[in-house]
Amino acid sequence: MGRSVAILKLGGSVITYKDLPLTPNVRAIRNIAKAIPRDVVGRLVVVHGGGSFGHWAAKTYSLSSEDPFERAANFSVIRWAMESLNNVITKLLIEAGLPACSLQTSALVVNKSGEIGEARLEIVSRFLSMGLIPVMFGDAVLDSEAGFSIASGDSLCAQLVERLEAERVVFAVDVDGVYTSDPKTNPDAQLVKDLSVSSLSDIEIRSASSAYDVTGGMIKKLEEILSVVKKGAVVYVVNGFFPDRVRDALLGRKVIGTVIRR
Ligand code: IPE
Repeated sequence: MGRSVAILKLGGSVITYKDLPLTPNVRAIRNIAKAIPRDVVGRLVVVHGGGSFGHWAAKTYSLSSEDPFERAANFSVIRWAMESLNNVITKLLIEAGLPACSLQTSALVVNKSGEIGEARLEIVSRFLSMGLIPVMFGDAVLDSEAGFSIASGDSLCAQLVERLEAERVVFAVDVDGVYTSDPKTNPDAQLVKDLSVSSLSDIEIRSASSAYDVTGGMIKKLEEILSVVKKGAVVYVVNGFFPDRVRDALLGRKVIGTVIRR
């Protein structure tokens, strides 16, 4: 595909009300949809998180239940929850005039012990070459060891960067970028504007994850970011409630947020 592909990861705390089960933040999604520049169509993949759909469902309907029937039933509920959120997001992207098209992660990815094992992602570049915007998501997937597990949107982004040789990944989150500590609890937390792989491993960054985040919160996110940057992409972490920042980051412009390079 060459290094022009961009990936936009919409964090669950931007696109849903994290403390209200199954409640999308329609206004936030719509604003971001309107801000996506037309000239990235055909070289943009949207990946979204679970928020109060996926995380809530995965906490409420356990994939490690003892009873195999119950486990399968729980899997189907989490899948349904993610599918429902994906439907809302895809519809709002379409309403904004974009050729958005859902691609179901669990039909393409099989995990191994909770990490992505197989990922049949060739179809993604074919969708791009047809001028579509694939809309993928963190999902409940089959797991060759555990039976079922969760593939986070962030780890899917890392796979996509590798397969599509993506140029940049924009993480739209609910704070202004990466901070020296949790900005929601520490008023002295400083926004870090530029980071490199070496400084990222040094810096002490605390998690702002909510109680029911089943995929590891900010620390895990930074690990995934690290692997994305090592694969050659530039990562932007920006506040998704400021759609102009999302747009500028997608275009590689200077933006309020954190830029992470190799
Ligand atoms: C989680 O995806 C998917 C499920 C829980 C099914 P993410 O881990 O990428 O979601 P957010 O962005 O943290 O909500």
